[in-house]
Amino acid sequence: MKIFCPYKVKNIYEAVINMTHDLEKIKHDFLTKLHSLTKEADILNLKSEFTGKTGVVSELLKSLKDMNPEERKSFGPKANELKDFITEQCSLFLAKIEIEEINKKLALDRIDISMTENIQAKSIKSGGYHPRTIIQQEIEDIFLSMGFDVLDGPHIEDEFHNFEALNIPADHPARDMQDTFWFHDPQKTPKETKKYLLRTHTSNIQVRGMLSRKPPFRFIAPGVVFRSERTDASHEMVFTQLEGMMVGKDISVSNLIYFMKTILKEIFKRDVEVRLRPGFFPFVEPGFELDISCLICGGKGCSVCKQIGWVELLPCGMIHPNVLKAGGIDPEEYNGFAFGLGLDRLVMMRYGIDDIRHLQSGDLRFNSQFKLF
Ligand code: PHE
Repeated sequence: MKIFCPYKVKNIYEAVINMTHDLEKIKHDFLTKLHSLTKEADILNLKSEFTGKTGVVSELLKSLKDMNPEERKSFGPKANELKDFITEQCSLFLAKIEIEEINKKLALDRIDISMTENIQAKSIKSGGYHPRTIIQQEIEDIFLSMGFDVLDGPHIEDEFHNFEALNIPADHPARDMQDTFWFHDPQKTPKETKKYLLRTHTSNIQVRGMLSRKPPFRFIAPGVVFRSERTDASHEMVFTQLEGMMVGKDISVSNLIYFMKTILKEIFKRDVEVRLRPGFFPFVEPGFELDISCLICGGKGCSVCKQIGWVELLPCGMIHPNVLKAGGIDPEEYNGFAFGLGLDRLVMMRYGIDDIRHLQSGDLRFNSQFKLF
């Protein structure tokens, strides 16, 4: 903008008219610019363009000293008025922008923490843990307090870690016990490609655990497992196990029984009736099935215990020497026990749930009955 200079004009009236005209022009120019701005920084720049040290209006005021007294008297107050007007307009616009920004933020983030009786606050539902997670965390804590580590492992597994290292070679009848989901390469025959599978038990973690540490050790391996089974009240294709093992010197069946009983007592917070039967699993010798009296029907017989009053809960046994060998452990020097807890059955017993399929249903009416955060 052209800087104002005192006017060389014929008479005072003409000078004042010209000056007033210039002030009007400056004001108009300022307002046009101001209305096109939306950012705080731009408004501050505009303010200094007009009223800053070397701004248009400031130059104008400086030039007052070169004017004759009449000019100054008439023009001075008008120039000062313009300066005040610009300052005031800038402040108003800055305040307007600030309010707009606050409103924008409020529109995005609609939770008003200053309001206690808020309809929105009432409708916000807090989440909770799945009952299986509740039990898993509790059991992990029990084992941690007994000196066990908690290990994890892959869901997609190879034959070695899921079967061979566990004393279940190809064509072993025990493979039929665990109907397996295999990954097939459509370009090849099933026989050529039966290499990768969805783990059928968390024993794969046991193999990986043995290979990665030196005895003595004890750890548990919780996780989801997959079997191509028919579903019914007590069977699902995807379910959760918590297996574990303890390896050291001179470990006996009585150590195994002690640990298992202690764990069950901690889990159910009371003595539960148990029975031990011989059980066959290729990776343990001797192997056992530990059953508990059905807590749903009190042992009378129901769909969960298949009317026999007992629920298979804890297969276990002394680790087979071949398994120790596959895990890089000398069976002459070390031995140990292993067990597998069916977490879903445990959840059912604890909460009196009569169908395992509820656990995977994702039905919020079911899930929301359990502990909230
Ligand atoms: N891996 C076995 C299963 O899934 C459970 C098990 C673990 C049995 C350890 C005995 C010892 O059926």
